[in-house]
Amino acid sequence: MTTARQLSAPVPPGGMIGILGGGQLGRMLALAAARLGLKAHIFSDVAEAPAFQVSDRHTVAAYDDRAALIDFAAHCDAITYEFENVPARTAAVLAGLKPTYPGARALAVAQDRLEEKTFLKSLGLGTAPFAAVSSVEEARAAFAALGSGPAVLKTRRLGYDGKGQAKVTSANDAAQAFEHFHGAASILESFVDFAFEASVIGARGIAGDFAAYDPPENQHEHHILKRSIVPGKLTGAEGDEAKAIARKVTEALGYVGVIGVELFVTAAGGLLVNEYAPRVHNSGHWTLDACAVSQFEQHIRCVAGWPLGDTARHSDAVMENILGEEAAGWQKLSASGGALHLYGKADIRPGRKMGHITFLSPRPRPR
Ligand SMILES: Nc1ncnc2c1ncn2[C@@H]1O[C@H](COP(=O)(O)OP(=O)(O)O)[C@@H](O)[C@H]1O
Ligand SMILES: [Mg+2]
Repeated sequence: MTTARQLSAPVPPGGMIGILGGGQLGRMLALAAARLGLKAHIFSDVAEAPAFQVSDRHTVAAYDDRAALIDFAAHCDAITYEFENVPARTAAVLAGLKPTYPGARALAVAQDRLEEKTFLKSLGLGTAPFAAVSSVEEARAAFAALGSGPAVLKTRRLGYDGKGQAKVTSANDAAQAFEHFHGAASILESFVDFAFEASVIGARGIAGDFAAYDPPENQHEHHILKRSIVPGKLTGAEGDEAKAIARKVTEALGYVGVIGVELFVTAAGGLLVNEYAPRVHNSGHWTLDACAVSQFEQHIRCVAGWPLGDTARHSDAVMENILGEEAAGWQKLSASGGALHLYGKADIRPGRKMGHITFLSPRPRPR
């Protein structure tokens, strides 16, 4: 295995940031790079990806197209990605050619729910009780081991927006769900009767410095994030604890970049970590309008070896995703007084993230 390259000096204005993935996150990263005078080169396996519209260069190729990856890296000063399922080999090829952040371990752990939960637990962080499932017998045994309350079976790899998940209420259910997933290696987790969901967007710079945004409360509909509210229902102490969790996770991973850590807040006020995303996160979109430096710029700063920017929030914010057909109402939304962001996606599909809108109210609550 070749060693991962590291930045020896900040990428100066005019430099090129490579971004794997051309969806809305890549698009907003490219726009943030542009604000700093940096250029973006998007690599996507989708023709006409939304990020192409706002970037300096793009490549359309498969993520395992070695020649295309080498050519891409040759144009870039530093590389990052907008999605966590970047194939490990792709990340390894790129990391051997140009500084690529976040690093391989952060990616590998996030790609496997069992490794991820085991890692979080090893840091002493609270998670839902969980057990590995790789056979029908294990599915039954895991259900019993978790105490026979409701549970969620999740495939270890490649799930998103609730895909690859099934709620189960008996050992038989668990066995059936496992078969329904065609025997894919899975994890069974106790169902958490949370009071609400939250997240924390943290950032760790190349020098090991850390900053986090105020943690939002998140509301999901049909397993897709619908709304992030800052400040939400978290107490000041819970907010501080959430930031400390993000710091611990990033330090343990030797992380460089922005991370999104998803949390459950229990009725008793405890924080359980659900998962982390080694990238910018949907629940941090409000930072574009409520902070001097958004999560997107923060991530670009990290990847380019620049100092971290200010995460302070100058307003209260409610961010709502614009999903599927809701995008047809763009005229009304554009007159609503919110900060409207549309992602340049031509086709409306049910549940597709078409844009978001952030409503600001002038004054943050005292901290
Ligand atoms: N153990 C659990 N208990 C209760 N709800 C859960 C649990 N795991 C997931 N969920 C719900 O499903 C949503 C999606 O699950 P998550 O693990 O974040 O997967 P992904 O976001 O990758 O689809 C969570 O935000 C939460 O609303
Ligand atoms: Mg999630």
